[in-house]
Parts: sequence; structure tokens; C-alpha cells
Amino acid sequence: MASISQRKADHIEVAASGEADFRHRSTLLEEVHLVHQALPELAVAEIELSTEIAGMRLAAPLVVSGMTGGTAEAGQINRDLARAAETVGLAFGVGSQRAMAQDPDLESTFQVRDVAPGVALIGNLGVVQARAMGTVKVAELARRIGANAMAIHLNPAMELIQQDGDRDFRGALDTIARLVDALPVPVIAKETGCGLSAQAARSLAGIGVHAVDVSGAGGTSWVAVEARRAPDNSPARRLGEELWDWGIPTAVSVAACAAHDLPIIATGGLRSGLDVCRAIALGATAGGLAAPVLRAQRDHGFDGVLTYLRELVHSVRTVTLLCGCRRVGELGKTPRHIGLRLRTWLDDLGIR
Ligand SMILES: Cc1cc2nc3c(=O)[nH]c(=O)nc-3n(C[C@H](O)[C@H](O)[C@H](O)COP(=O)(O)O)c2cc1C
Repeated sequence: MASISQRKADHIEVAASGEADFRHRSTLLEEVHLVHQALPELAVAEIELSTEIAGMRLAAPLVVSGMTGGTAEAGQINRDLARAAETVGLAFGVGSQRAMAQDPDLESTFQVRDVAPGVALIGNLGVVQARAMGTVKVAELARRIGANAMAIHLNPAMELIQQDGDRDFRGALDTIARLVDALPVPVIAKETGCGLSAQAARSLAGIGVHAVDVSGAGGTSWVAVEARRAPDNSPARRLGEELWDWGIPTAVSVAACAAHDLPIIATGGLRSGLDVCRAIALGATAGGLAAPVLRAQRDHGFDGVLTYLRELVHSVRTVTLLCGCRRVGELGKTPRHIGLRLRTWLDDLGIR
């Protein structure tokens, strides 16, 4: 069985390589066509991008999604990402804190407050680990890194592909409900690349979760990451190949969660400011990105991340103006054309 640290190192390599992206399934955000306004009657300087989600005030509607921790390289990645996110005024998430729960020596690789004292910081833990730990220990994990919110991730597909992954997903909703009641910080229910359905959204809305991160299909496939890690010709490799493209396109998942009035972070395959705006048009409050930010860090360190995030914000601002919106949240009501492929998904699932 690979150690957690080895697994984290593998995840960074495989996800950054792009060799674990969805093959034939897109986010369907390309089906959201926003309508150009030739008479916006707005100046760039008055475009308002600030946003609030899960109790966190952001300068722009963007989240650097939780990825890592648990190795020296992961620690450096977290620090670079957190510092850049703070500089731009965005939220930043650490990866699963299971590693630091099991081995306190790894805690420093999740600590970013010394370099990013004011960043909107999201902790992270799998729901199966949260169920086993209980609310007090989860609260302690959030407190130890100074988190402003706690993401509880749902990843049954990834676990089922992993040879030594979890096999029992019962009690997940109850676990999240207890955390919503007991944690001193808001709770975000987060998928990890397969998306949240309308049924999952209804359940999560019913327990009063503070926000969801849909992490839908179309970007990094976590089934694919585990398939790539599995030995050649193993059952895990074959199952991973078969289910490589499993998941709900991000656009569909955003619309499903919006139908239940949940505050939404739209993650999963967003690759531009235009994608972020399209997701907001479908009902998201903010967009989240993981793999592209990781690549920017690996290519050019902190400066690379800062440049990447600034360009992203600039692009969100540009699209907001071109849609004739003064506030980015107004994109939720801006005219749009929804292409047939997305419309069919929404019709078939009864999502309005
Ligand atoms: C290297 C890497 C590690 C990740 N680890 C975690 C994790 O520990 N917890 C989690 O909730 N999501 C994790 N994710 C999932 C991302 O937060 C995100 O939901 C997913 O990658 C889809 O976004 P993307 O297409 O922009 O990469 C990880 C993603 C990457 C790229």
C-alpha cells in the first residue's frame, strides 16, 4: 500500500501532466453563449467583482481549489498558491488534511498563515475520514491551519478505483449535517471531479450546508488519476479506463445546484475567465480552478501563479463589462443562449 505522501506526490505529477483529463466529456460550459452588449454604458473601473461565499469576502469570484499537502513539494505549492491568492484577494483551499491528522509531522505542509495571514482559507477532509474522526477532531483540523471554511469532499468514484480506497460511503449526509451544526466555520460540500446531481443538491440543501463546490466533469478526472497510478493490466487500471469519463458535466451540476438555491463554487474544467462567467450565468457564485493553477506554480513558481490569477480576474472583468453588467453577480440574469447539448441534459434531468 502506497504511503499517503507517495500518493500525494503521484497525484501532483499525474494531474499536472494533463494525462488524467477527461477524454470525451466536456464541462458543457461551451454551450453557454453570453450575449455581447455593444452599448454597455460602463467603464472598466466601475466593474464590481467582489463576492461573498461561505462567509468569505473575495475581491473576485474565484477560488483556488484544494489540492495538496503532505510532502515538502506540496508544502511549497500550498504556500505559493496561498500567497498569490491573498495578493489578488481570492480564496485558496489546501488538499485533504487526512495526512496531517495521521502524521503531525506533516502539519507544516498545510500551514500557510505565516505567508498569507489574510487569505480566505478553506480546509479540506474526505467525508469518510470526517465520519471516522467525529466533529471535534474535524474542528481541530480547521483550527490548526486557521481555516475560514471547511470543505468536506465526496469522492466515491475515485475511492472505488483506488485499490486500497474506501468502500463504505454510508452516513455521509449525516456526517456533513453534524459538521454544519457543530463547526465554528462554514461547511462546503465538495465533489472532486464527478459533479453533484440534483438529488445530491437537494439532500445538501436540506441539511443547510453553507455552500457546495460542484467539481464536475470536464477537467481533471480523478478516476483517471487513479487509473494512471494503477499497475498495467490490473483490475483497477481496467475499471479506471472504463469509467475514465464518469461524471456530471460541470455546467449541468451548477444548474442542478442552482435549482436548489445553494451558494455554488463551480469547479471542474474551468480554464478561463469566460468559463467562470458562464458558470456564474448558470447560477454559481464563484468559479474554482485546480490543475491550471498547479501547472502555473510548477512552471514559474509564485510569480507564475500570480500572473495566471491576475489574468483570470482581468478576463472575468472584461466579460462582465461586455455583457453590460456592472456587478459580476448580475451575470446570473444576463441574456444567454444555451446550446442543444446542455439544454438536452437539463431537460432530461428536469432541471430548470
Ligand atoms: C493535484 C490535485 C490534488 C487534488 N487533491 C484534492 C484533495 O485533496 N481534496 C479535494 O477536495 N480535491 C482535490 N482535488 C480536486 C480539485 O479540487 C478539483 O475539484 C478538481 O481537480 C477539478 O478541477 P480542475 O479541473 O480545475 O482540476 C485535487 C486536484 C488536483 C489537481
